[in-house]
Amino acid sequence: MRFARRMDKLGVVASLEVLAKATQLEEEGKSIIHLEIGEPDFNTPDNIKEACKKAVDDNYTHYSPPAGFKKLRQAIAEYVTKERGFQVAPEEVIVTTGGKPIMYYALTLFAERGDEVLYPNPGYPVYESVINFNGAKAIPYPLRESENFSFKKDVFKSLITPRTKMIIINSPANPTGGILSKDDLETIAGIAIKNDLIVLSDEIYSRILYKGEFISLASLPGMKERTIILDGLSKTYAMTGWRLGWGIMNKDIAKAMNKLNGNIISCAPTMGQMAAVEALKGSQGPVDEMVSEFKVRRELLVNGLNKIPGFKCLLPEGAFYAFPNIKGTKKNSKELAEYLLYEAGVALLPGNAFGKYGEGYLRISYANSRENLEKAVAQIDKAISKLDI
Ligand SMILES: Cc1ncc(COP(=O)(O)O)c(C=O)c1O
Repeated sequence: MRFARRMDKLGVVASLEVLAKATQLEEEGKSIIHLEIGEPDFNTPDNIKEACKKAVDDNYTHYSPPAGFKKLRQAIAEYVTKERGFQVAPEEVIVTTGGKPIMYYALTLFAERGDEVLYPNPGYPVYESVINFNGAKAIPYPLRESENFSFKKDVFKSLITPRTKMIIINSPANPTGGILSKDDLETIAGIAIKNDLIVLSDEIYSRILYKGEFISLASLPGMKERTIILDGLSKTYAMTGWRLGWGIMNKDIAKAMNKLNGNIISCAPTMGQMAAVEALKGSQGPVDEMVSEFKVRRELLVNGLNKIPGFKCLLPEGAFYAFPNIKGTKKNSKELAEYLLYEAGVALLPGNAFGKYGEGYLRISYANSRENLEKAVAQIDKAISKLDI
């Protein structure tokens, strides 16, 4: 069997590798605290589940139009207009199976051989994977701890060439928990307008923000028409398994993306679409409660990590990940992640799983109970005390 050559360009998901090792240890009787997880540990709120059950009983079990039910696109358009502060029409919304397909669609629509696409590094690994898969060249822009996990403007500007076609941004970010300031966004907007670029703005963590108001790049002057927003229910409403997400984009891009959606998935699950209407229009109390709990855990985890010799951790401003600098342990990130899995019984991810600029860091998810986070910090501390540092 001979696979198409493009298959060599797709990466593997590091968290699944760690999970496989952790599961094996559990099968051998060892107890593991899972901090490698990239999803809320909360359950989907009851009102959303009930709306889905009702939708099934009402026979929302057939296809919808590829872009999604008008009712949901209307609800998303109203939600985005309210949350992001700029006008969105239902014709500018494409509903799909989770936020992830929007990455694949946006890059398929705009990036091909000969094009360059800038993406954050350390960053969500799928960006690089899908840029390469589409035959374009992936150009990493470093996110630096010294810049609060944002980029250095002169470095960013120096990466733009006549071949640059797209920029990908992600704020709040996975894996760093960093955010892009208004000033950073203005820099990107200036570059995108000057060079006629499309920006994919991954805003999947926009509601998991611990201070200040979320600013969308699309809200800046001249940016709505050249920005594709990726968002969805997965993280905000603890609905990762439902596979319900969407993109916001101008009407011409939406028409092309509608074609891709129709060819690839036909439509997102229809009972889930009805539940999504309830998620957006119903009580937002559970979201607020989840974010408040993450905020408490964030402090508990970061304070604990900063007491461990060799660790230095910034306070993340969004998402549910801490990204401590572990250079003081004198181990590289893969060695340390493995050591902590076997010696401390804590599963977490090496920073270099998120790109070369993630070397020297670990990604630790705080989508786990306070009790487990406290235990994990104590166990990591004990394991580190055995090292000669
Ligand atoms: C930065 C980022 N974007 C997108 C996604 C994908 O979200 P979804 O589950 O809605 O496809 C994730 C999931 O981990 C993520 O971390």
